[in-house]
This record gives sequence, structure tokens and C-alpha cells, in this order.
Amino acid sequence: MPNWLKDAVFYEIYPQSFKDTNNDGIGDINGIIEKLDYVKSLGCNALWINPCYDSPFKDAGYDVRDYKKVAPRYGTNEDLYRLFGEAHNRGIHVLLDLVPGHTSEEHQWFLESKKAEKNQYSDRYVWTHAAFQGIGGHPYIGGEADRDGCYMLNFFKCQPALNYGFLNRTEDWQLAPDDPECIKTREAMKDIMRFWLDHGCDGFRVDMADSLVKEDDENKSATGAVWKNIREMLDKDYPEAALVSEWSNPRQALKSGFHADFYLDHHGNGYNTLIRDNETPGGDHSFLKKDGNGDIFRFLDDYLPKYDETKDYGYISFITCNHDTPRPRRTLDYEELKIAYAMFLTLPGVPFIYYGDEIGMRYLDIPTKEGGYGRTGTRTPMQWDGSKNHGFSTACADTLYLPLDPSEDAPTVEAQEKDPSSLLNEVKALTALRHKYPDLQADGSFEVLYAEKEKFPFIYRRGKLMVAINPSDKKASVSLIDNDHFEDLAKVTDNTKLDDSHIVHSIGKLHFTDTHIEMEPQSFAIIAL
Ligand code: GLC
Ligand code: CA
Repeated sequence: MPNWLKDAVFYEIYPQSFKDTNNDGIGDINGIIEKLDYVKSLGCNALWINPCYDSPFKDAGYDVRDYKKVAPRYGTNEDLYRLFGEAHNRGIHVLLDLVPGHTSEEHQWFLESKKAEKNQYSDRYVWTHAAFQGIGGHPYIGGEADRDGCYMLNFFKCQPALNYGFLNRTEDWQLAPDDPECIKTREAMKDIMRFWLDHGCDGFRVDMADSLVKEDDENKSATGAVWKNIREMLDKDYPEAALVSEWSNPRQALKSGFHADFYLDHHGNGYNTLIRDNETPGGDHSFLKKDGNGDIFRFLDDYLPKYDETKDYGYISFITCNHDTPRPRRTLDYEELKIAYAMFLTLPGVPFIYYGDEIGMRYLDIPTKEGGYGRTGTRTPMQWDGSKNHGFSTACADTLYLPLDPSEDAPTVEAQEKDPSSLLNEVKALTALRHKYPDLQADGSFEVLYAEKEKFPFIYRRGKLMVAINPSDKKASVSLIDNDHFEDLAKVTDNTKLDDSHIVHSIGKLHFTDTHIEMEPQSFAIIAL
């Protein structure tokens, strides 16, 4: 486990929307460099940068045309190498986005693979033996190539699936995962990783990490074997490099060699029930919504078994949002966001803040761009200040990559930096506490102290700290003495009676009486035991 991950707080940057320095309306690598001091001021000590490679941008860069070349619209490879150095000077680690499951249909490998004559890339992608022979159960394209075959897709039409083989084979065109051609695909990915690691990158967020071997078993053991092999390379040659998976199945991902796995927004899972329950018929019952009347067990029943089973292998990553997910501001107001982020930043594992969520940027209802569709509204330019285009770019507003929040009260970094009660300043306070107290970091122990069905507050212990959360718009109180759930508290506090002097940090108000902890509506506290 790379040691730096224990205290990592990540910031996800969508490069096209962060900061434009050459006035073409698109964010660039130099813009990220310019804002590294801001990232640091936020208390973030690690970055994940979405794909910044050469691409036709039919899926905003997840359709990679050249894995080893920075897209000219973002700058040059030298700019990115400089970014690594400047970030390291500030104690910031940088993860790039690795897209191992597919390339762009314009990648050189694919241009070769689709040729009629057999060549060294013929089996780099998944092809059937005839243009009229389709692929059951998977999307595929026929009739587009000189080669007499259909090729499999991994996502959009522009993203042909790379060939890591099939575990359960039923057709003669399906190669085994240990076929030399499939091993070559894996080795090509390792070569790309080495290229960036040798230039100073600190690891990868891995796109669709579970999608490699097709017709895998239910444990995804063949895909897992590919990652174990890649992890061996890292452990041997790059022991400080980190691998974070887009898998959202920590049991599979962390046991396959990933250091951390995202807890993604999947309808009805534990994370979804905390802040994103709004698709459920009958109203938004998110636990962290003030009038949601939520139930913490919808989260705990999903999360606790996953945490218990995987905590010795790696980390579960909570996210404020990501480039595929509506921004949390869509359904939560500033006070609700403060408490939500307070929870994410005090849980175990490695947290990720999506750019702009720290100021509560809105989800905008705007037309699609580069394959974004419903995701586009989450990808709008960062709002820095009150100047032209909110400081994102000095280009004409109608040439910007995406429009900015047109509201008069569009949040900006500049305004929130000046306001002591802002969301931004709350995020800074929380990240600072996380860095100060190892108990709050990725490895610190985690134990539920008080959770009752459909009740508030929710209280958990992180080492010698206790975190109490009342996200609801009603007061909540818990007895500290006459309560089964708190039986152990006397032990952990060495019988010291808790009082208000134990409060290390709070949002809203709460206080201790002789017998109870009483929490005002929408309050949160970190308490020293
Ligand atoms: C992942 C990315 C998403 C992309 C897809 C295909 O889910 O997060 O943005 O469109 O993979 O690469
Ligand atoms: Ca630019």
C-alpha cells in the first residue's frame, strides 16, 4: 500500500473545464498548474485528472487515440511532465486516467486491426470470423471494415473493445485469456503505464476496470487475474504508485490488486441512499437530506459488510460526485452539503472531491457535448471569481467548452473564500482536521456507536474520536448512559464524562447534558473521547 494514500484527499479535475490559459475556451494543463496552490489551499494532496490524451472526443476523451500523447487542446507532454513536478513540489500526487478496456476507433491499433490482411494488431480487438457473424449478448459493429468480421464495442460506437480474451468460450473466434495475443494486450497496457510512471505520474484511476475479460465468472476472477499481474509490476518497480478502480465492487476490486475502489452512484446502493435517493418513487429519502426522513440502515446494510470484508485489502472511496453523476447541489442546499461532505471526509477510505463541488456548483440543464448527454450538466467550467466567464477563460462566452452557470448567485471561489461560513471554508476545515488526526484517515478504525432505524443522529467512532451527525431538520438526542449502543462508551472514554469541551469541530449546534448528547437540527460534530 503506498503510504501516501493513508492521508490522501483527492481532487478530481475535468481538464477541459478547469482553467483556460491560452484563451481558446478550453481548460488546459497550464491552467491546472496555475491552480495547484488553490488545490493545496483546499487541503487536497492528490489529483485525479480525467483523460487528457489525444482523442477525437466522441466520449470526452474516454475514446483514446494515442495513450502516450497529451491532446493538443490541453497542451503538450512537456506541460504534463511539468505539472507532475509542480504538483510534487507542493506535496500533491497525480493520478492519470487509464482506459484499458477500449480505445477510440481512430487509434492506430484499431486502424491496423480492421485491415483485411492479418497483422500484429488483428487480435488486439475482439472480432468474429465474418461480417455476417454477430456477437450475442454484447454490442458490436458489422459492415464497417475491409476485414471480414464484426468487432465488439465496450461502450459507445466509437469505442471498440480491446481483447483480453473470454473465460467461458462458446465460439471459435473467442480467445482464451492466456492466449499470447491477449497477453500482448495486457503488456501493451503495462507499457503505457510505465511510460507515464517513468515521467512522474503517481498512478491511475482505471476506467471500467471490471470490463476486461469477457464472459468472466461471477467473481470476475479472470479480469482480476489481469489486475493482479499488473499490480505485481507496480509492487516491484513502482511501489509508491496507486491504482484506483472504477468497479464499485470492493470485494472484487480490492482483492484483485486495486488500492482503492470507488463507491459509485448505483441506484439503491448504500452511497445512493445517503445523498442521491431522488430517483426513488415517493420522494427523496436520502439520509443526508434534511427533510428526507431517511434511514441510516439503508446505507449501513450495504456498506458495513463491504467495509468489514475489504478493510485489510484496500480502501473504499467516497465521492462528492464525479463527471458521470449529477452534482449533489442538484438536490442538496449548502447546509445539507456541508454535513454530507463532513460525513464523507470523516469515514474510512480515500475521499474524492469533484472540482466545483467544494463551492456547491450547480448541475446545469444544458445540451449534450462530446457524448456527455445527461452528464454534461456536471462538466461545466469552474467558477473562480466575478470576472469575465467567472475567471475560467477570457475567450468569448459563446466559444467556451460549455456554458457557465448564468445565475446571479452562481457560487465562486473568490466569494466563498471571503465568507467564513461558506461551504468552501467548511471543506477546508474538514480536510485540515483529517490531516491533523490520523484516526480520521483512510486506515483509522471505524465502528458504529449509535444507529437506530429511521432515527437520528448517527454516531460512529474513529479511534479516539467520535463523529455525530444529525442531518435532519429536527432536534435529535441520545442518552449516553441508558443505551445499549453506548455500553462501550464508558470503556473507550476511560469513564471520562463527555461535555462540550470535548467538541473538536462542529457544524450547527449541539451540547452534552449530564446524560444526553443533544443535537440541534442539521448539526455535526467531531468529539474527542
Ligand atoms: C467510465 C467513464 C465515463 C466513460 C466510460 C467509457 O464510466 O467514467 O465517463 O464514458 O467509462 O469509457
Ligand atoms: Ca486552453
